[in-house]
Amino acid sequence: MTPAADAARAFQDVHGRAPAGVWSAPGRVNLIGEHTDYNDGFVLPFALPHRLAAAASPREDGKLRVATLGDDGQLQHSGPHDIAALEPGSVEGWAAYPAGVAWVLRDQGYAGGADLVIAGDVPSGAGLSSSHALECAVSLALLGVAGVELEDGGAGTPARPEIARWVQRSENDFVGAPTGLLDQTASLCCEDSRVLFLDVRSGEMEQVPFPLGEAGLRVLIMDTRTKHSHTDGGYGARRRGTERAAELLGVKALRDVTLDGLDEALAQLPEDLVPLVRHVVTENQRVLDVVALLREKKLAEIGPYLDASHVSMRDDYRISTPELDLVVDSARSAGALGARMTGGGFGGSAIALVRDDDLDGVRTAVETACEQAGFRRPRMFTAVPSRGAGRDEA
Ligand code: GLA
Repeated sequence: MTPAADAARAFQDVHGRAPAGVWSAPGRVNLIGEHTDYNDGFVLPFALPHRLAAAASPREDGKLRVATLGDDGQLQHSGPHDIAALEPGSVEGWAAYPAGVAWVLRDQGYAGGADLVIAGDVPSGAGLSSSHALECAVSLALLGVAGVELEDGGAGTPARPEIARWVQRSENDFVGAPTGLLDQTASLCCEDSRVLFLDVRSGEMEQVPFPLGEAGLRVLIMDTRTKHSHTDGGYGARRRGTERAAELLGVKALRDVTLDGLDEALAQLPEDLVPLVRHVVTENQRVLDVVALLREKKLAEIGPYLDASHVSMRDDYRISTPELDLVVDSARSAGALGARMTGGGFGGSAIALVRDDDLDGVRTAVETACEQAGFRRPRMFTAVPSRGAGRDEA
């Protein structure tokens, strides 16, 4: 069963009729370019095959009712919420994500009510953007039941990057997580077999081919099954630190500091901001270097950049954890070409670039290392770059 079929069936169970449509959106991994998005920098995500689907029908009373199908097969319900009365803080917990999307769309003039039923297979709390997949699927579903289909592309149809900014606003201002633009843009704009090179400042995008199969490579996702949450303080503290550094340096964002000017910039900063700035500036350069290699189809050569990115996040940005360090190090020792934590940090997942022939050995080495350290058994799977959000055949 696909997530779309699961959502449609659950909708039928809850409402006794078929939904008007089903829309779905993927989770993501970021190949490289971490904590650069809110510094106007560069990112390079791809969409996972895992998706969250929203089955939806319009309601005439301007209300939003949502149900979500959990891993245990149980439905959790929220609402009906009066969309006209939504405001930050008025809905909490998981339902704040769909309600925040309805809130922001209302302000954009799409105020219609809807019944939604959500189902899918993006692991939650794994740093793979399940919350953004949820928000993006809900935004397309709410637009869809209001008669706006992205694929039609008619006059007045919002563009995907614009919807990404709305989703970011709902997340920042309604849910209260001060995140950047990486995840929503990945979920909405990624394409099959490609990584998305996004310049967050200009909004320019390039779909860079990432033919893993042809190159005899795999990306192994290693979910440490340890906590990560961006409404907690660590993420916001890093973000504020980089913003303060930009202010002290007299630039709009750390994007404006180049690798050549890094030493001079660091010399002007208080000690606590030095490692944060060093991470962001070197990470931006690593994204550019990796994109240059991928354009030349040198996929196997990006490994050292993944490694350097991890070290930078571990030692300078200080957002890694013992579990993430262990899966990265053990994957490397067992022959991975490169490995790094992915996403916001403080737990969640890491990725490793692995040759086909080494895959089993790497998996076993990572499992054994975690077992010996007394850590939870990681959830591991390989993933190929997949399509972005859209309407599904139910
Ligand atoms: C989280 C945020 C993104 C981005 C990453 C780190 O996933 O949602 O905006 O900042 O962390 O790169």
